[in-house]
Amino acid sequence: MPASSIKRIAICTGGGDAPGLNAVIRAAVLSAINCGWEVYGIRDGFNGLLLPEQYVEGGLVRLTRDRVRGITHLGGTIIGTTNRNNPLEFPIQDADGKIQYVDRSDELVRAFRMHHLDALISIGGDGSLAIANVLSRKGLRVIGVPKTIDNDLEQTVVTFGFETAVAFAVECLDRLHSTASSHGRIMVVETMGRYAGWIALNAGVSGSADVILIPEIPYDITKVTGKIKDREEAGRNFSIVMVAEGARPVGGSFVVKDRPVGHAERLGGIGEKVAAEIQQITGKETRVVVLGHLLRGGSPNAYDRLIALRFGAAAVRALEEGQSGIMVALDPPTVNYVPLEEAIQRMKAVPLDCDTILTARDLGICFGD
Ligand code: F6P
Repeated sequence: MPASSIKRIAICTGGGDAPGLNAVIRAAVLSAINCGWEVYGIRDGFNGLLLPEQYVEGGLVRLTRDRVRGITHLGGTIIGTTNRNNPLEFPIQDADGKIQYVDRSDELVRAFRMHHLDALISIGGDGSLAIANVLSRKGLRVIGVPKTIDNDLEQTVVTFGFETAVAFAVECLDRLHSTASSHGRIMVVETMGRYAGWIALNAGVSGSADVILIPEIPYDITKVTGKIKDREEAGRNFSIVMVAEGARPVGGSFVVKDRPVGHAERLGGIGEKVAAEIQQITGKETRVVVLGHLLRGGSPNAYDRLIALRFGAAAVRALEEGQSGIMVALDPPTVNYVPLEEAIQRMKAVPLDCDTILTARDLGICFGD
């Protein structure tokens, strides 16, 4: 479809929220309006189209200049999001109360046509981008925008939301240093990040953690307690241990909090496990702080605002150029386009030989290996 035939586009935000979503929405809406297009937000991921009966005012919200005024700095997303109800595996309860998972992507494509939506800008992480890819293969014109505080998407140097999450975690580490040293305690700080250690690594190095445990480097708890004992012997009576929620011991598995219906497994609890083991082995008082959703809330920092705005504007430029089935990606100094198919191939894990890991090791930070 030539770009000139676009009259109405939709925007959706899917998966866990991340600081910067509203900035993407604002830039995309203003750019699209400049092209003469109407813009609609789909409420709560794709729920607005798949479960319209749940919305008294309709599952689509018209996004005008007025509606997106003053939202760049706001956390969350004005159109709502969800990390349930994946249209490719939509949970439906059968007559016996059992949950069946059905593919509703064809129905979704029909809903787009019914509402005369000529294109979609899908802002999300790996799950949302995989859905976007299927919709694009089914003939919908789709542009993906990479979002996640986890920074685990390949093909973009960074996702928006990540830097804000790291900055907040560093502020927490700074605060925890003073209380830890006053009490001579071990503070274990658990971060989000799913199966990648980016948040724990970047925040841990910047915030002077003594130990950083990430999924990419399975840990041996005696190496961790060894580091704490070495510090004690050197006269430092406290230690800060940063633990990614996906960290796991050598030969062990992830700590899964729960597996809600229609939702990927939720990690969480490794901080408690590590803290209990440290206290037991060292005899030192140990406390746990789980940063959790605090990392996702709040205002995006300047860096995230800027890349989010750039991504939103680039997504509309891509549509104008007649592109589809691509994701906008940060490739400094520019924003380029990569096929969605490639963008979702692999999770971006922390490379073990990356400069940040080398730096951490040079600083004496222990990875439990
Ligand atoms: O992917 C973003 C993320 O915040 C992960 O770091 C975390 O594991 C997950 O989402 C938490 O999901 P929920 O908001 O459903 O608890």
